[in-house]
Amino acid sequence: MKGSITIVGLGPGSEKLISSEVQDAISNASDIVGYKNYVNRIAPRTEQNIHSSDNKFEISRAELAVKLALDGKRVVVVSSGDPGIFAMSSAFFEYIDKTEENVDDIEINVLPGISSLLAASSRIGAPLGHDFCVINLSDNLKPWKILEKRIILAIQSDFVVVFFNPRSKARPDTLKNAFKIFKKYSHCDRLVFFARSVYRKNEDLKIVKLSEASHEMADMNTLVIIGSSVSKLVSKNKTFFYTPRYYKP
Ligand SMILES: C[S@@+](CC[C@H](N)C(=O)[O-])C[C@H]1O[C@@H](n2cnc3c(N)ncnc32)[C@H](O)[C@@H]1O
Repeated sequence: MKGSITIVGLGPGSEKLISSEVQDAISNASDIVGYKNYVNRIAPRTEQNIHSSDNKFEISRAELAVKLALDGKRVVVVSSGDPGIFAMSSAFFEYIDKTEENVDDIEINVLPGISSLLAASSRIGAPLGHDFCVINLSDNLKPWKILEKRIILAIQSDFVVVFFNPRSKARPDTLKNAFKIFKKYSHCDRLVFFARSVYRKNEDLKIVKLSEASHEMADMNTLVIIGSSVSKLVSKNKTFFYTPRYYKP
């Protein structure tokens, strides 16, 4: 039997939100592989080998994990949030789908993490209480035309819409363009929730109307949730954002 590869989710940023199953996998690993900012979030045991790399090296991380596991190592590949949501798991499966290495004897597991999607939603109430869709606004790996079509159909279907990767230095205008589409196709002034660095030291939460929303309110550590036509605010000792479970007949 060769080694093992376990792809794990570290949650949005707080150690308390890492599952005990993931904590156990990390403690039992001989090697930890991942993006340096995620690897830095765990305290490795002294005898563990750490292989951290820069962003956008997902396929080489997958390749390294396989190489180590073929040498009999117990490898943990770390990801933020949930590893299956715009993260390391699919990059890993893309790699093993194409590789000519024989991975049949490697034990492969994926362990879930709390996605920033769920953490952000819980911070403000229940914006995802009715049907919603999740869109990765990065057009690095898919054409903008596809994104544009998905956003229009999501608005017309009256989904609550969640945007991951709303903007970055290399893509300063993607959220701006998405807001333009929303303003053109929405028949109401929807609520827009900006959840920045949720469960991290510099957490910042902001809720505004679509007419007041600016792409500059988001950066690459922000998740944006745009309400449906029936999403609303309820103000008690603080203000909550929620989507009712029903439509009025
Ligand atoms: C490459 S995706 C990774 C998503 C991750 N797998 C998850 O399930 O949360 C990175 C994007 O996730 C969102 N994100 C990740 N962690 C976040 C956090 N703590 N607060 C707000 N947004 C976060 C941001 O939109 C960021 O651009």
